[in-house]
Amino acid sequence: MPGSYRQIDVALGDQAYQVSIGAGVRHLLPELVAATGARRAAVVSARPPEWTPDPGVPSIRIPARDGEVDKTLASVEELCRQFARFGLTRADVVVSCGGGTTTDSVGLAAAMYHRGVPVIHLPTSLLAQVDASVGGKTAVNLPEGKNLVGAYWQPRAVLCDTEYLDSLPRREWTNGYGEIARCHFIGAGDLRGLALTEQIAASVSRKAEIVAADERDTGLRHLLNYGHTLGHALERATDFAMRHGEGVAVGTVFVGRLAGALGRIGAERVAEHLDVVRHYDLPTALPEGVRATDLVALMRLDKKATNGLSFVLDGPAGAELVQDVPEETVLDTLEAMPRRRY
Ligand code: GLY
Repeated sequence: MPGSYRQIDVALGDQAYQVSIGAGVRHLLPELVAATGARRAAVVSARPPEWTPDPGVPSIRIPARDGEVDKTLASVEELCRQFARFGLTRADVVVSCGGGTTTDSVGLAAAMYHRGVPVIHLPTSLLAQVDASVGGKTAVNLPEGKNLVGAYWQPRAVLCDTEYLDSLPRREWTNGYGEIARCHFIGAGDLRGLALTEQIAASVSRKAEIVAADERDTGLRHLLNYGHTLGHALERATDFAMRHGEGVAVGTVFVGRLAGALGRIGAERVAEHLDVVRHYDLPTALPEGVRATDLVALMRLDKKATNGLSFVLDGPAGAELVQDVPEETVLDTLEAMPRRRY
């Protein structure tokens, strides 16, 4: 069983759940499965079988693969067919184990199968622990774009076992720390210098507050996209050679500069963006060879951009969504960013 661990409440009324964070929390799985009343479990895992404890009820193990390529409607259909062949009912439970792409697509399969089966996530990457597995957004990609088909489906529980992170490659740490860095500017406080479990707990805790206030992303939840508008554009402009957390890190430095250029924050706060991103050893410069005009065109496709170019920007009252930011200021700010080869 785990030693001491943190528990964060996601206060969503009759959909409320807890996120447990710490070494060994995966061993809470059987008691959480029992709490759902499930008689059987479908365990979908992108990790070796021993990474997921026995759920304590008859189960089927379904192997999965992390990665955007498998985040498709076809893989959701295949999962649902396997659930059906196993005889899974709405009174049973689905367990997902893997990175954010796995928790996203398994979450969507759980949302759709029998119009909704309980799901418990065991995220194994830092990115999935601090962001993707919490908050109920599930989605798959279409050839036309990322995350275009999805549903809100809150999990029954999330187990962020920090032992899963022991074997994480360096770039996966960068991926997760990009999200932790942006938390500094959306009300989580200064997480530099905290132990890893505390950094994850503080990030999840801030996300839980935001999701509890705006589950369906109609206002406050936009804050979670701090640094993401440019981040997503950089991912696309580099054909995903730049990872999500790397794009968010550069995007965070950029929105600091943009907020400064618009007179929303002073020079010290602009510099704090660079300091925080650097502290986590994350990239701060735009990649060479990507044109500012192309980035602007990509940023116009952002889902939040219902009124011109939109960014979540720091300001006197904290971060907020700012619509219709002048293109010229965006271009000038991009042109002034340092460049480097990645
Ligand atoms: N990852 C952003 C959100 O959950 O809203």
